[in-house]
Amino acid sequence: MTSSSSTQAVPEIFAVPRHIAMIMDGNGRWATKRYLPRVAGHVQGVKAVRGIVEACAVRGVEFLTLFAFSSENWRRPADEVSLLMRLFVNALEREVDKMHANEIRLKVVGDLSRFDAKLQEMIAEAQRKTEDNRRLTVTICANYGGRWDILQAVEKMLAANPGLVAPTEEQLAPHLALAYAPEPDLFIRTGGEERISNFLLWQLAYSELYFTDTYWPDFDAEALDLAIASYRQRERRFGRTSEQLLEQKKAS
Ligand code: IPE
Ligand code: IPE
Ligand code: MG
Repeated sequence: MTSSSSTQAVPEIFAVPRHIAMIMDGNGRWATKRYLPRVAGHVQGVKAVRGIVEACAVRGVEFLTLFAFSSENWRRPADEVSLLMRLFVNALEREVDKMHANEIRLKVVGDLSRFDAKLQEMIAEAQRKTEDNRRLTVTICANYGGRWDILQAVEKMLAANPGLVAPTEEQLAPHLALAYAPEPDLFIRTGGEERISNFLLWQLAYSELYFTDTYWPDFDAEALDLAIASYRQRERRFGRTSEQLLEQKKAS
C-alpha cells in the first residue's frame, strides 16, 4: 500500500524522494523580466515541465505532482486563463504518446467539471491510455485547491458511510484526490514566494519544504538536484527526537 499516513505511522525514508510535489511559480515574472508578454512565460514553463518529468524519471522518483492551475487562478484576466487552457490542450496532444512510451502514468486531479467537454474527454483518454504505467506517475493539479480536495473527500466519505459521526483518518484518506500516492516527501516552490497557495493542505503534513527564487521556466535538472541535496540534509523526525533517530540507526 503506497498511501500510508505520516500521522498514523512513521514512513520509510529513501535517499531519492518517492514523491515530489511542486508549485510551478514565476512564469509571468520570467517573461516580464525579458519584456515579453506573460504568455511567453507560460509557453516556456511547459518546456520546463518536460525537462523535470524526464529528470524525475531518470532519478527514480515514483510520483511527481505539479500544480498547474489553482481554483483561484480563474480570478486572472480571461485571456490569460484561456491561453493556459489552450496550452494544456496542446501539451496533452503533444506529450501523452511520448509519456506512454516512457512508461509514465498521467493523472489529472482537481474539479474538472469546470473545463470544457473536449478537454475533459482528452484528460479521460490520456488517463485511460497510461493507467497501467508504473515507472513514474505524473499528476497535474488543474482547477485544484487543497480545501476543495478535503471537502470533496468529506462528501464522498459521508456518502460511503451514512450516519457517520466520528470519522477517522482511515475513512477520509481514500477519498482524497491523491489517495493512490504516498504523501509528498519533498515540496518545491519556485518563483520566490514562500506560501502554500491552497495546494495540498492535507498531504503536506510532514513534507520537507523547499523554496527557491528560480523562476519556473529556469527550473532544470540541476536545480532539481539542489533541491534533492537539500532534502537529504534534513532530519525527518515525524514528531520524535534526534536521539531516538540515532538509537534507531544504531540498532539497524
Ligand atoms: C505560475 O506562474 C503559473 C500559473 C499560476 C498558471 P505565474 O503565472 O503565477 O507567474 P508569476 O507568479 O506571475 O510570475
Ligand atoms: C500557485 O501560484 C498556483 C500555481 C502555480 C498553479 P499563484 O501564482 O497562483 O499563487 P499566488 O497567487 O502568488 O499565491
Ligand atoms: Mg504566481
